[in-house]
Amino acid sequence: MRAAVYHRFGGPDVVSIERMPRPEPRAGELLVRVHAASVSIADHRVRARDVPRGLRVPTMLALGIRRPKHAVLGMDAAGVVERVGADVTGFRPGDRVVLLRGARFGCHAEYTTVSASGAVARIPDELSFLDAAALPFGFGTAETFLEAGGVSAGNDVLVNGASGAVGSAAVQLAKQRGATVTAVTSAGNAGLVRELGADRVIDYAREDFAAEAARYDVVVECVGNAPYRRSARALRAGGVLLLVIADLAGMLGSKLRPVRGGIRRIQDVGAVTGAHLEQFARLAASGAIRPVIDRVYQLDQIREAHAYVDTGRKRGNVMLLLADQTA
Ligand SMILES: NC(=O)c1ccc[n+]([C@@H]2O[C@H](COP(=O)([O-])OP(=O)(O)OC[C@H]3O[C@@H](n4cnc5c(N)ncnc54)[C@H](OP(=O)(O)O)[C@@H]3O)[C@@H](O)[C@H]2O)c1
Repeated sequence: MRAAVYHRFGGPDVVSIERMPRPEPRAGELLVRVHAASVSIADHRVRARDVPRGLRVPTMLALGIRRPKHAVLGMDAAGVVERVGADVTGFRPGDRVVLLRGARFGCHAEYTTVSASGAVARIPDELSFLDAAALPFGFGTAETFLEAGGVSAGNDVLVNGASGAVGSAAVQLAKQRGATVTAVTSAGNAGLVRELGADRVIDYAREDFAAEAARYDVVVECVGNAPYRRSARALRAGGVLLLVIADLAGMLGSKLRPVRGGIRRIQDVGAVTGAHLEQFARLAASGAIRPVIDRVYQLDQIREAHAYVDTGRKRGNVMLLLADQTA
């Protein structure tokens, strides 16, 4: 099969298209012919070793010290089940599915595998592979954080970084839960986040949300510039800070720093499951949520895709097409 492979850490040019053996599904696994996958900020972070301050050593231990532990990037994909391993029930060849491999990567390839009991779900016929593959990373992350924070109807929620893959999903899923949403973004993305349902937009170049009088029940931090010491000023007593991203100091601070007013700080959340993916696929097929797709690249254009993700300015998701198809 063809795959986007990298053997050393660095810029987009370390990635190239190579032929490699097709993976074999083990017992309990599905072999999936990948039609579309996302190129996410996680691919950027791992490939370039661009991780928040203080987290380089733990990241290296997990993902490779001298060379990459996983030669093929790509955390999520949508495609068609090609074969099933022994003992698989619930899926069969020909099923259209969406899946998340997460930190095991391996989706920027024509074939990948996933545990049938893991983060994989069938997708409705009316949902394209492209839209389906834009769901797991952003919506999975956003939903597990909103769940952990217990976001519910009537909450005032602020999403910092509302136009990224995670932020654009957090805005929509918080609205689905009946919250009132304030989105922090640049002026150029104000229209997008309003379309996604944001009730109010703050342009971060003009206003500091933490210096305003407004107070929120929940702050979803998706940028890395609003740790507890900043976000706490914008939270009501008993509020929740959802730290989707933080550097080591922010992570330790969130565990050690004394809280005021019973504010909860959450950085560890549950795993994304097949049930989550099934729910997102259903909501997307009905139009209740919209995966935001910024740019679409062919597998041969993988370096351009990485270079665009590296800008840190993508709107929602950057996608890769891997099969000849009408995705
Ligand atoms: N904890 C976890 O499990 C987990 C999972 C997934 C992701 N993450 C982390 O979550 C963060 C967000 O991920 P993502 O996929 O959403 O990233 P992304 O899609 O690359 O984010 C890009 C967006 O960030 C916005 N942005 C940049 N600077 C900003 C600022 N100062 N204020 C507000 N928005 C700003 C940009 O909008 P403008 O161009 O308008 O500035 C752009 O739309 C990343 O740091 C990622 O590593 C953590």
